[in-house]
Amino acid sequence: MATTSEFSSKIGLIAATVGSAVGLGNVWRFPAETQAHGGAAFLLVYVICVLLFGIPVMLGEFSIGRAGKSDAIDSYKKLSPGKPWWISGFLGIVCSYLILTFYMVVSGWTLEYLYQSLSGELFAPIPGVEEGSNLQFADRMQEYVGGVWPPMIWTWITIAVCGGVLCMGVQKGIERASNILMPLLFVILIILCINAMSLPKAAEGLEYFFNPNFSKITPKVCISALGQAFFSLSLGMGTLITYGSYFRKDTNLTRTAFTVSLLDMAVAILVGMIIFPGVMSFGLEGESFDGSALVFVTFPEIFNNMWCPQLWSSLFFILLAVAALTSSISIAEVSIAYFSSHFNLKRVPATCVVLVPLVLLSSLSSLSNGVLSDWTIFGYTIFGACDAVTANIIMPLGALIMAIYLGWFAPKNLMKDQLTNGGTIRNPLAGTVMFLLKWVTPILILVIFIASLFT
Ligand code: PFF
Repeated sequence: MATTSEFSSKIGLIAATVGSAVGLGNVWRFPAETQAHGGAAFLLVYVICVLLFGIPVMLGEFSIGRAGKSDAIDSYKKLSPGKPWWISGFLGIVCSYLILTFYMVVSGWTLEYLYQSLSGELFAPIPGVEEGSNLQFADRMQEYVGGVWPPMIWTWITIAVCGGVLCMGVQKGIERASNILMPLLFVILIILCINAMSLPKAAEGLEYFFNPNFSKITPKVCISALGQAFFSLSLGMGTLITYGSYFRKDTNLTRTAFTVSLLDMAVAILVGMIIFPGVMSFGLEGESFDGSALVFVTFPEIFNNMWCPQLWSSLFFILLAVAALTSSISIAEVSIAYFSSHFNLKRVPATCVVLVPLVLLSSLSSLSNGVLSDWTIFGYTIFGACDAVTANIIMPLGALIMAIYLGWFAPKNLMKDQLTNGGTIRNPLAGTVMFLLKWVTPILILVIFIASLFT
């Protein structure tokens, strides 16, 4: 069934799409990946991946969504009836669900940390641990994340908040929430960034982040940067097909894709400009921070060294909670759109069908950081496996199938019509985007995949 929902304004459409893109990926995943893969070298490859793959793939998803006017699976079925391309949309829906299982858990952690920042508990001494030491925050996080009830209850609260917004629908729920929350996020980010520039070793941090050492660029760095670009831009999961189906006929897709990608990249870069000066200034560079430790240990350590830690920490966790919630909403919307359009369900029952099983699955994912940590798949916990499989395998694979479809098998003028709004606007980039999708995107995704198998 065709979707009848639409975003009501240009600003709302951008806010919702940026809300989807800007999330834990920018704040939690990006700096950790940057640190693990050579600092500025990773940033350079990441920017290239966004421009060369990210924007064309985003335009491909928008085009399929707006032309098919349906969910991630049915849009393909409508555009190419009887052909198996809908599998790409199916992979997207499966992937989005897998991501939700850990994304909701981490979003729940951010709410707990926001609560602890506001109440001051986060900076209270722990008996037996030296105050202000690294251990103070590491212990606190370990204890919290590995626990049974608190992280699970915060996960349920996150699911309930997202469910409330999703039940209200596209305009009154998603669009309205994004219109309020996204500007708030940018204001907080800029305040934190200005503050980071005043730290004693800000220049060293910026040098680490912006001055690339080219010898560090390896296939592994490339695949990680590609995975990060896909994750951060919400690609390969049907989210942008679903949001594309809510775009109006006169929306300029290319301008939208550039605006969203550049804002998303700007957020990631601003986060780097906050974290690396802090890391250098407070002697934390020796610490290896995986994603979670970075946000929940390193950031509090940085704030603890600054004037009024509670203020900075509260601002930061508000920012993170906003980013996490608007992205969680967009991820859940992929499945909700499918159930409501395919099975003709109203918003509220469709939202329940998607979110009720998620309560169970994300609870398991939460427990896999503690009591269920022995349940492993190829050495990964349930939580870790979902992250690794989705960003590094399913998302690029879904995008590969989509690029092959759009480049070679889609109805002849589909992309051209969408990029020029049926010939009503001039688009000097249309030819380049179609060339990239036809040749560069599929070939490079394949090459990086193969190279990563041998390194
Ligand atoms: N882009 C989001 C982030 O950076 O956290 C994550 C995400 C949202 C991935 C929506 C995929 C998606 F469909």
